[in-house]
Amino acid sequence: AESFSTTSTTSTALNSAVAESETTAPVEVFRTDYKPLPHLVTKINMDFVIENGKTTVTSELFIEPNSSVEGGGDLVLDGDESCVKLMSVSIDGKELEKGKEYDLEPQKMIIKSPAPGTVLKTVVEIVPEENTQLSGLYKSGPMYCSQCEAMGFRRITYYPDRPDNMAVFENIRLEADEKDYPVLLSNGNLVDSGKLENGRHFASWSDPFPKPSYLFAAVVGNLGYIEDTYTTTSGREVKLGVYSEKENVDKLHYAMDSLKRSMKWDEDKFGLEYDLDLYNIVAVESFNMGAMENKGLNVFNTAYVLADKDTASDADFERVEGVIGHEYFHNWTGNRVTCRDWFQLTLKEGLTVFRDQEFSGDMNSNAVKRIEDVRMVRARQFAEDAGPMAHPIRPESYISMDNFYTATVYVKGAEVIRMYNTLLGTEGFRKGMDLYFERHDGTGVTCDDFLQAMADANDVDLSQFSLWYSTPGTPTVKYSSAYDASTGVFSLTLEQESKSDKPLHIPVSVGLMDKESGEEVVPTTVLDLKESKQTFEFNVKGDVVPSILRDFSAPVKLMPDSGAVDEEALAFLAAEDTDGFNRWEAGQRLYTSSIFQNMNGKESEKTLQYVFDAFERTLKGEKLDDYSIQAYALLLPTEATLSEEMEIIDPTAIHKARGAVKQKIARKFQNEISAKYEELSGLVEADGELSVDAKSIGLRRLRNVMLEYLCSIKETPEEQKAAAELAKKHFENASGMTDKMAALSALASMEGKGTEARDWALQKFYDDADGYSLVVDKWFSVQALANLPDVLDRVKKLTKHPDFTLEVPNRCRSLVSVFTMNAPAFHNPSGEGYKFIGELLVELDKLNPQVSSRLASSLIRWRRYDEKLGALMKAELEKLKAMKPISEDLYEIVSKALD
Ligand code: PHE
Ligand code: ZN
Repeated sequence: AESFSTTSTTSTALNSAVAESETTAPVEVFRTDYKPLPHLVTKINMDFVIENGKTTVTSELFIEPNSSVEGGGDLVLDGDESCVKLMSVSIDGKELEKGKEYDLEPQKMIIKSPAPGTVLKTVVEIVPEENTQLSGLYKSGPMYCSQCEAMGFRRITYYPDRPDNMAVFENIRLEADEKDYPVLLSNGNLVDSGKLENGRHFASWSDPFPKPSYLFAAVVGNLGYIEDTYTTTSGREVKLGVYSEKENVDKLHYAMDSLKRSMKWDEDKFGLEYDLDLYNIVAVESFNMGAMENKGLNVFNTAYVLADKDTASDADFERVEGVIGHEYFHNWTGNRVTCRDWFQLTLKEGLTVFRDQEFSGDMNSNAVKRIEDVRMVRARQFAEDAGPMAHPIRPESYISMDNFYTATVYVKGAEVIRMYNTLLGTEGFRKGMDLYFERHDGTGVTCDDFLQAMADANDVDLSQFSLWYSTPGTPTVKYSSAYDASTGVFSLTLEQESKSDKPLHIPVSVGLMDKESGEEVVPTTVLDLKESKQTFEFNVKGDVVPSILRDFSAPVKLMPDSGAVDEEALAFLAAEDTDGFNRWEAGQRLYTSSIFQNMNGKESEKTLQYVFDAFERTLKGEKLDDYSIQAYALLLPTEATLSEEMEIIDPTAIHKARGAVKQKIARKFQNEISAKYEELSGLVEADGELSVDAKSIGLRRLRNVMLEYLCSIKETPEEQKAAAELAKKHFENASGMTDKMAALSALASMEGKGTEARDWALQKFYDDADGYSLVVDKWFSVQALANLPDVLDRVKKLTKHPDFTLEVPNRCRSLVSVFTMNAPAFHNPSGEGYKFIGELLVELDKLNPQVSSRLASSLIRWRRYDEKLGALMKAELEKLKAMKPISEDLYEIVSKALD
């Protein structure tokens, strides 16, 4: 890998990566402009001849008129001229004449009025070795691999590269040198293979299921693998393979086990079985995203496949399981039923995220998973919805589709699916799913089709619910309540506000707790909030405390109508709520109150006492039987979550105030926390051999929260010494990566008397990683997140480290993107953090527009900061916008931010 400072900017691929935007102005595409294709490719054969520095792709397209469209006319094929070089185009062996029978534009080929039954043959050359965008066919380590979603297939061959063209990929022939590239994989079933002259070999694959081009995949490389089988309920035996670079095959077992669990879960929960005889997964180091659900041949970022006890943390294991599940579940929600057009992306992504969340919850702990997911919605999706890239889960327009693989489409989309589930119940939801597959299997459909299936299967009207698909922004729900002792009526008034003209249909789950006894007197009930303001009445026997929005039943911000939170009620709920999620939530709100009071210099003793009470009770473990929930209840809300509570975000003040409250808690309960730490250390030890079940994970999580509190006490030299010793001991005795990382992140922020231990641990961690990429990534990240005054200089220096490169997205993100999450450093008043990112983006955009535009998202919310910070961020955006050439991806992000 090249280091940052020597990153080449002169290869042809780099120049061509942005050539398009030099010649053509970026075009915005609108959802309502959808038109079906007049011609369809119903079948395709391909031949890949892979040679060093040149791959020749021959394609045969079988063309038929689309019976649902009148008129016929020209056939338009997508093709990216910066990537594919056309060598020949012919019909029935006859070369076509340019200008007469076909035309070529930078992004398309136009075949003049093809007759029904035409078989069009094209030959193109591509250079995967120079493809740094990682879209199309590219090289990663010892393998060639493809990535086609959303629009990468046009970087492999000329084709109607959109999801409403479903074709049978009948014969995909891959040919390469046998010694260098022994493994040849594509979608579907292997139908032929053999040796050729000159040490070459080939394999032919056939996929019986018609699919859009974005689900095509090919992998050609020198790989190791593990194998297993799975027998479906109906008795089909499926051969499973998980592949990686040879030296990593010992880290594939957890992925394989997760795959089998996913297959079983989808049968049990949704009655969905796998449909091919083969299921392969390949781990690839250079990958823009997490993973890709190509039919029968998933391609994964190594970070979501490779895991073993020495190198993966508990969170890594959980992510592997979740993402393996996610891609597997796409086989039905994505592949068997796909999207008609890219505006419908949430149709497959929101639904599949919901499914993977449920799967992970069932495998571990549903309550813990829900807390983690909600933390994510609040920190990431709410932030996106409050910035210039806010969009409905079904966007109305895009310049580059790659920019719409967002938290909104994915996780808010999943929240919308969850609301169907809440409104219709598990059985009703299942009925809707069954009808959805019955109606749409084998086709590309819209979000409206999904909604209609849910409505029809349950005989309900969901027309008002459909507004969730067109409304951007985070809605608010304000509540007020009153109790009439004379009638025993408790009334709860809810008022909603959103960017929709008409009120949304919001399911609000509510339970009522008796004020005196603390008993739950009204169990969780789903209220249908359908008007802008609505009052709900309950008959109760005495005054109650409402527990509202249980389980986060809708992706909204809940707030008291009066503006002031009722801390007494929160304290009550933090102690008494029978709903685990809302008990956690009440504690979080109390912490939030206290942090903001600290920030405004108006600390109330009473609030602090509530916080202390809640913390102490949780620490003692009252009402909690799950270590993970206990851990999450002891953690203060993240800086990102706190930011969303401010009109004008002050990252430095948030960091300070949060740190101050943390210190207060740590000092007040130092003995108890220490004791708990020791007690848990005993339990962890007794737990023996590291295992990744919910209980062991919880133990480690809770113990590491204790460590974090203890290590936050480091004002005096003696305290620094003690903290460093504790963390060092934790590091040395760590039984796995989770504990090692917890210790290392505490150490990474140490100064004074802690400096020596810090430097020692960082070096030791690096040496132990022994060059293994995913652990080296952690080493970069932990330093980028350090809470040190000179962290930016350290990060800059790390960009010159021999292991750093912008070309491998994981590595780039591990240092640079992670740095942007270090809020006080990135948002340093000097503006140096912004400048660093701005300058780096200039380099990165030439290499990989998808990664550059994602990184640029860290700069776009400039209106949310005070004038000084905002102006500094804006200045970087303006520089980028003026940059020539600039990728479409980056252009869209910066121009929308400056609008
Ligand atoms: N469709 C993939 C998923 O969510 C994500 C992805 C999108 C991967 C675009 C690569 C490119 O599972
Ligand atoms: Zn997905």
